[in-house]
Amino acid sequence: MKITIVGTGYVGLVTGTCFSEVGIDVTCVDIDQKKIDGLKEGIMPIYEPGLETMVLRNVEKGRLHFSTSLKDSIQGSEAVFIAVGTPPGEDGSADLKYVLAVADEVGQHMNDYIVVVTKSTVPVGTARKVKNTVNKALEKRKSELAFDVASNPEFLKEGAAIQDFLKPDRIVVGVETDRAKKIMEKLYKPFLLNGHPTIFMDVPSAEMTKYAANSMLATKISFMNDIANLCEIMGADVNMVRRGIGSDSRIGTKFIYPGVGYGGSCFPKDVKALIKTAEENGYPMRVLKSVEDVNEHQKSVLVNKVKKHFGDNLTGMTFAVWGLSFKPKTDDMREAPSIVIINQLIELGAEIKAFDPVAMEEAKRDLHDTITYCKDEYEALVDADALLLVTEWPEFRVPNFTVVSKLLKNKVIFDGRNIYDPAEVKELGYVYYGIGLSQEQ
Ligand code: UDX
Repeated sequence: MKITIVGTGYVGLVTGTCFSEVGIDVTCVDIDQKKIDGLKEGIMPIYEPGLETMVLRNVEKGRLHFSTSLKDSIQGSEAVFIAVGTPPGEDGSADLKYVLAVADEVGQHMNDYIVVVTKSTVPVGTARKVKNTVNKALEKRKSELAFDVASNPEFLKEGAAIQDFLKPDRIVVGVETDRAKKIMEKLYKPFLLNGHPTIFMDVPSAEMTKYAANSMLATKISFMNDIANLCEIMGADVNMVRRGIGSDSRIGTKFIYPGVGYGGSCFPKDVKALIKTAEENGYPMRVLKSVEDVNEHQKSVLVNKVKKHFGDNLTGMTFAVWGLSFKPKTDDMREAPSIVIINQLIELGAEIKAFDPVAMEEAKRDLHDTITYCKDEYEALVDADALLLVTEWPEFRVPNFTVVSKLLKNKVIFDGRNIYDPAEVKELGYVYYGIGLSQEQ
């Protein structure tokens, strides 16, 4: 079986590589020649645990190829996956120009029946636009070739994408015909050995499922951030409350951790896009608007604590920041709360010494150029007035506090992810601020 994946970004590259891992012949196509040349030499454009080894293995086996020519690669492919970017336009709606450009190219060059699958997160109604675009391109060349569209949203988490793909909770596929359904079933069969289902549905429902899933998860997080902030005011402890509610299986233990706000390439963009789609169709998404509001507010919560402790003028002070990426195990800085936190501190006059295990190169593009990047977490502490823990990388969880105490000027920790035990650090003489805890100091 042969397929083509267009777009070697996060989604496309992981999808293509995992399909090749189960023996499917995959060509990953991208217009970026440099990226394709790099991939051929085993240079990954993104950081994802396990990806490089898997790419190299499958390239060597001859079933994973990289190319800049969609025209060549779709010959003989049973499906073409569109996994190109859908950047948010100025008004928050997803820009479909790349998706539709691929659809047009498919129409121009396909030479047999093919399923055109949208894998990028696209608004409800996009598959219909893809269908129209392919049809128009076929009409232009006076071709009557048959094709189908399908929607196959991805639920990969950065940092765990390979495992998520190989052992999915579920696979959602929107189809219009049995012919397309059979091809999609054949493609995904190797991944369903753990008993989880492929859920077939109509195309608009599949498109909506992705937005509903991400919006529900973002809602859980914002809800817990609101509860955490209220806990502080009322003298309750959100860690207790989290355990208390999480043990109810209807609520569940996941995605109820308060913090400095959600970031990344999906939640902020998808929540915005769903609000926008609803608005365009005359329906106000009241809950989701509040989810966004809470998230914006949450990015300031840690700096508000800094101000409460040190005052509004931070001139002459230095802060150590541990963690820059929007979450651990990724170098992704998109919508990372660290950007807002660091900018606010700099605006108040502070200097920043930062360390992140993998995201510092990426961060240089997004952050103020006055920041000092350090070689490890301890170097960031030298002469710093306080430590801000922003991203909960595993290596920050059990630091050597004797060393930390020697390096920091003041024993003050602002823990944006509640990873330290307040009692333990207080015992060591620290002033400790977490998120949503009853006794702050
Ligand atoms: C998410 C979805 O999980 C995935 O299914 C979808 O395909 C893409 O978007 P990802 O963006 O990789 O994946 O990150 P995820 O692990 O879901 O975390 C998102 C954000 O929520 C992070 O900023 C994280 O720090 C935050 N978060 C998560 C919390 O603040 N609290 C939690 O309890 C969980």
